[in-house]
Amino acid sequence: MSQLEAPDLYHRWYYEQGVWERVRFLGVPCLKSVSDMWNYQELLTELRPGLVVEFGTRHGGSAMYFSTIVRALGLRAQVFSVDIEPQSLDTRARSYPGIEFWVGSSTAPEVAARIAQLRKEYPGPMFAILDSDHRCDHVLAELRLLRPLTVAGDYVVVEDGNINGHPVLPNWGPGPWEAIDAYEAEHPGDYLRDEASEARFGFTFAPRGFLRRTEGL
Ligand SMILES: C[S@@+](CC[C@H](N)C(=O)[O-])C[C@H]1O[C@@H](n2cnc3c(N)ncnc32)[C@H](O)[C@@H]1O
Repeated sequence: MSQLEAPDLYHRWYYEQGVWERVRFLGVPCLKSVSDMWNYQELLTELRPGLVVEFGTRHGGSAMYFSTIVRALGLRAQVFSVDIEPQSLDTRARSYPGIEFWVGSSTAPEVAARIAQLRKEYPGPMFAILDSDHRCDHVLAELRLLRPLTVAGDYVVVEDGNINGHPVLPNWGPGPWEAIDAYEAEHPGDYLRDEASEARFGFTFAPRGFLRRTEGL
């Protein structure tokens, strides 16, 4: 095995063996790469956000994780986590401090309105993470929704660009990776790719998806 192949091989093993589906945070499922989680902890520490927006709650383990980090940093910050179906939400997450769970589609205008309101209530940078419906059209719609809600310095992570052969699930069809490409063609310069964070641990479930908002072109 050459050094260059090692991260991709590990990535495929981690994904295909379903390791990510067995990750737990304080006992609650958190469907992620653990090195991505560590990366988010470092980014949140640097960013010191007022608001963390998560599209795609599922069990709530990731929302609990984000809330734990921002509270440990001593920030006056809120996590806003959106999911279209609330049935999977763990009872431990429901009562966890610092999180507002919202039931509905991440692309609904009411979600945009609530984010705008929360930005006023919780000033400071926003960290948003897109982890809901991974189809290209949906992720593109989420990025469009965030456009008027984000300002220079905010941070957006688009998760699961690894599917559709980047490098897992080669036949999945257009997903987050393709949505990022489409958004960049539509609004060039809105985001700078944070390649250092993306490359930090050798592989990520969010290739091309570490995005720092700029002023735009
Ligand atoms: C991959 S899971 C989220 C995992 C979670 N963020 C974590 O790391 O543990 C994706 C979630 O997105 C939700 N979802 C699917 N379509 C959605 C939509 N249009 N709007 C909001 N959530 C949606 C699903 O119900 C599912 O719970």
